[in-house]
Parts: sequence; structure tokens; C-alpha cells
Amino acid sequence: MNYTPILKTIAVLGGTGKEGKGLAYRWAKAGYKVFIGSRTPKKAQLAAIELTDLLGGEAVIEGVDNLTAVQYANIVALAVPYAAHRDTLESVKDILKGKILIDVTVPLVPRKLTSVRMPPAGSAAQEAYEILGDEVQVTSAFQNISYEYLMQDEPIDCDVLVTGTSKEARSETLKLVAAAGLTGWDAGPIENSAVVEGMTSLLIGINKQYGSTSAGIRITGINATAQ
Ligand SMILES: NC(=O)c1ccc[n+]([C@@H]2O[C@H](COP(=O)([O-])OP(=O)(O)OC[C@H]3O[C@@H](n4cnc5c(N)ncnc54)[C@H](OP(=O)(O)O)[C@@H]3O)[C@@H](O)[C@H]2O)c1
Repeated sequence: MNYTPILKTIAVLGGTGKEGKGLAYRWAKAGYKVFIGSRTPKKAQLAAIELTDLLGGEAVIEGVDNLTAVQYANIVALAVPYAAHRDTLESVKDILKGKILIDVTVPLVPRKLTSVRMPPAGSAAQEAYEILGDEVQVTSAFQNISYEYLMQDEPIDCDVLVTGTSKEARSETLKLVAAAGLTGWDAGPIENSAVVEGMTSLLIGINKQYGSTSAGIRITGINATAQ
């Protein structure tokens, strides 16, 4: 395959999984060319076919291995279980240079999903930045959006807080939040990702306590013209 990256191209590592596939669906629907990345290209191809069918055959989605996906995209979303976070990043580190990584990972501890547990770096996104270094812009987003709602075409009653290593990277990520049909907010530096990642455990806990599946967050009190 010979492909020159263009701005409307995004790679989703973990795009065969629940959250990544939902994001790939939303972005493909918005007109982005989406590369679904996987450790197993065949699995990625099947996910691409599934999404293309769901979108009536009109979308441009390809399933490839993780390295190829990163190579062809300018912006790369990462949605893998926290246990696979470091290994996945190490495996694509060299070709991520000069690109933006949107980290969707939440450092959940199995069987303790409702307790906030952050890694020594402060959060999964800060750990990503430590692993990747200054040549990659790292943002974090979508951690509070449940996959179940991404694959539906209904509005999602939850805002997206975007943190990141530069204003420019946050601004590019906010464009993808809007493309996914969600309301996003610039939530400041990457250090703030700990709050957003931690919020996921709170929301899971609230869902458990109140028998719901769709607890979310909204930012209120902002003048609409300021957005
Ligand atoms: N599910 C949600 O509603 C939700 C919401 C917000 C945030 N998140 C976060 O998004 C991330 C992905 O969540 P998910 O629910 O989409 O996870 P998932 O479906 O279990 O896994 C996503 C993908 O990660 C890849 N992967 C790479 N290494 C892996 C490993 N060692 N074990 C298992 N899978 C591995 C797999 O893709 P390949 O086999 O194709 O490589 C898999 O399809 C997590 O960090 C989660 O906390 C999830």
C-alpha cells in the first residue's frame, strides 16, 4: 500500500476493541479516513469491514497492523487496556515522532474499577509522555465516554475534557471531539489528565450504586460565545 498522510487521517490503536471501535465509527462517519490498528492485521481488517458495513459502505476504513496505522496517520488515538499501554507505546514510539497521540487509556485496576489508582507518573497520559518524549505531542480525551454510546447515533450526554502537552495539540484533539459529535473543553496541561482519568472510576461507581449505565459529566456556567 502506498499512502501519503493527509490531515484528515487518523489511526486508532486498539480499534478492534470496544472503545476504539466506537471512536473509529464516529470519525469515519464524520468523513475521516481511519486506519484501525491491531497486533493482528486480520482482526483489524474484520473490524474495518464491520464498520464499513455499518456505515453503508461509504466510509474509508482500513484494518492494518499497529505500525502501519501510525505510519499513515498524523493523529493517533490509543485505546488499549492499561496492562498493554506501555508495550503498545514502546512498539510504535519511533514512528510516532512529530505526531499527536490522543491517549484514551484509563489505568483501571481489575476488580477495583471504582477506586482511583494512578501510576507513578501521575496518570496514564503522563506515563505516555514519559515513554514517548518531547518529539510527540500527547493529549488525553474520551476517558469518560462509554463505548456503548459511541456505536449508537444518539447524542451522548457527557462532555469530553481534553488535556495535553500543548495548546495546539489540545486544539487539534478538540476538532476530533467535535467530529465525534461531542462537546469538548480545553482542560489544560497533561498533568490534569489524572482528574479526568480518575473521573472514570467515579462514574463507574456511580453507575453501580444507582443502577444506571450512563453517568456522565457536563461543564456548566460557561458563556456560549466563549467556546
Ligand atoms: N470500554 C469503555 O467504555 C471505555 C470508556 C472509556 C475509556 N476506556 C479505556 O479505553 C481503553 C480500551 O478499553 P476497551 O474497553 O476498548 O478495551 P478492550 O476492548 O478490552 O481492548 C481494546 C484493544 O486493545 C488491544 N490490546 C492490546 N494489547 C492487549 C492486551 N494485552 N490485552 C488485551 N487487549 C489488548 C486489543 O486489540 P488487538 O488485539 O487488535 O491488538 C483490544 O481489541 C482502556 O484503557 C479503557 O480503560 C474504555
